[in-house]
Amino acid sequence: MRFSSIPATILSLLSAWLLLPLAVHGSYFEITSPSNGTQWVNGQANPVTWEKGLLDGITSFDVELARLSQDGLLYAAKDVPADTSSLNIYLQNVPAADDYFLLFLNSTHGVMYTVSDKFSIVASSSSASSTPQPLTSAPTVSISGGPNPTNAFATTFPPSANGVLAWKTVEGPMMQMAAVTSVVLVAMLSGALAVL
Ligand SMILES: *[C@@H]1O[C@H](CO)[C@@H](O)[C@H](O)[C@H]1NC(C)=O
Ligand SMILES: *[C@@H]1O[C@H](CO)[C@@H](O)[C@H](O)[C@H]1NC(C)=O
Repeated sequence: MRFSSIPATILSLLSAWLLLPLAVHGSYFEITSPSNGTQWVNGQANPVTWEKGLLDGITSFDVELARLSQDGLLYAAKDVPADTSSLNIYLQNVPAADDYFLLFLNSTHGVMYTVSDKFSIVASSSSASSTPQPLTSAPTVSISGGPNPTNAFATTFPPSANGVLAWKTVEGPMMQMAAVTSVVLVAMLSGALAVL
């Protein structure tokens, strides 16, 4: 009875923060590049790197770019194998701005796995403070132009040959765990946003 007097927003905020340690220990997935202050350059391949826990059940993910100040997403790559740790993104005519984020998610059901720091995209190397070095051993995907309303990914990776079989046995329970973790993560993010 007493709880009914507590506003729902405060309650959800509280529960989001209470679950925070769970989310942090449950999975580890971090985009290490681009990071805060990184400049990506149009007309070049720009490196993306990440670090990820092994036992979170995520075998592949989709990569999108978003801007803080504008709607719309740039769809970069679908089904990136999670047992790799890097990728290059070649940019062409992508609007220059300093409020881009890279999203790793499952775009099928919209579950977010991780978000990069805010970074910039500049028009050409003449306006860049440093030149990005593409990773020679990593695959390169290209995106061109602004947000794409048709939800078409520029590149779809084929199912990875190794890893898939090994994952089969743990997939069921692990996927459930990953789903719960993602829900918690979303709750946490919305909690954090509400605080800001
Ligand atoms: C990002 O870098 C800017 C300037 O270098 C700094 O002011 C800001 O606090 C940094 N933000 C984060 C989240 O690290
Ligand atoms: C996203 O989730 C769906 C349904 O669980 C799954 O079939 C698909 O393979 C997942 N996509 C990626 C990129 O992991």
